[in-house]
Amino acid sequence: MVGTAVTILMAGAVGAVAAMSSGVAAEPESAVIAEHEFQDASYAGHKDGCRKCHLKEHRSWSKTPHANALDRLEGEDANNPECLQCHTTGYGEPGGFTSIDDTPQLAGVTCESCHGPGSAYRDKETMKDHDASVAAGLEMPNETTCRGCHNEQSPNFSGSFDFEAMKEEGVHDIKQ
Ligand code: HEC
Ligand code: HEC
Ligand code: HEC
Ligand code: HEC
Repeated sequence: MVGTAVTILMAGAVGAVAAMSSGVAAEPESAVIAEHEFQDASYAGHKDGCRKCHLKEHRSWSKTPHANALDRLEGEDANNPECLQCHTTGYGEPGGFTSIDDTPQLAGVTCESCHGPGSAYRDKETMKDHDASVAAGLEMPNETTCRGCHNEQSPNFSGSFDFEAMKEEGVHDIKQ
């Protein structure tokens, strides 16, 4: 997030300088940058990013196997990109998991694995407005979300996935 803000400021400065030297108004530049910032949504982490406002979901989620999914990878597999893509959050994506030392909050299958990277929707004003949250990248997970990991590419896949049954034990307390 800090990195993104710095990039935007620098891009803005370059745009302003370019605009000054060419005599073109700087206005359109900032519009493009604002859109770019949104598309660059990155991962906030479950503790810093979500917990303070969603204590109930956080507490119940932390008791599911998802919270400790990285611990399942032993030996060299703990650094194997093929395994990390499903046992961590956002691996290989901008701002996603890189290593347990650098991105400890993205170890395992965390909030943003299912709900999308939260940097652009996690502020209170956006969150209170469902449509605005979705526009900023919030996902309301469904069976397709789960099957993104629960599929044949998992070496331990049982061969079938019962969404309703798995939702009971694998997500967090869900309001009805
Ligand atoms: C500043 C407080 C705050 C933070 C931080 C926050 N949320 Fe929210 N969130 C809210 C509020 C307020 C609502 C709307 C009321 C509700 O459903 O609890 C909401 C609603 C939601 C909903 C339901 C949306 C809907 O329209 O049904 C989801 C899913 C969600 N948040 C996920 C997250 C995730 C994931 C994170 C972390 C990346 C996060 N929130 C961070 C305050 C926050
Ligand atoms: C394995 C996927 C998964 C993970 C991980 C996950 N959620 Fe959810 N979340 C769901 C599903 C599924 C729903 C229900 C969606 C619906 O009703 O359409 C949901 C609903 C919600 C809601 C809406 C209110 C409610 O309770 O129904 C909030 C808020 C929320 N999640 C926050 C979080 C937070 C915070 C975390 C991390 C601590 C998290 N979620 C982790 C799948 C997930
Ligand atoms: C980012 C990948 C990913 C997504 C998305 C995901 N899961 Fe999982 N899930 C895993 C991994 C990895 C494990 C194994 C964790 C462990 O054994 O420690 C797991 C384990 C589970 C378990 C424990 C039982 C078992 O088979 O080991 C349940 C239940 C579950 N997931 C349900 C869901 C549901 C429901 C959704 C969608 C709402 C979902 N998962 C989405 C990766 C994912
Ligand atoms: C396509 C996503 C995906 C990939 C890739 C993946 N896993 Fe998993 N892993 C899962 C899911 C989902 C589960 C939960 C069991 C299930 O339903 O498949 C799981 C469960 C596990 C478990 C617990 C098994 C059990 O019976 O409790 C281990 C161990 C594991 N994975 C190791 C690995 C290793 C090692 C790799 C890399 C070689 C890997 N996984 C790659 C998704 C994946």
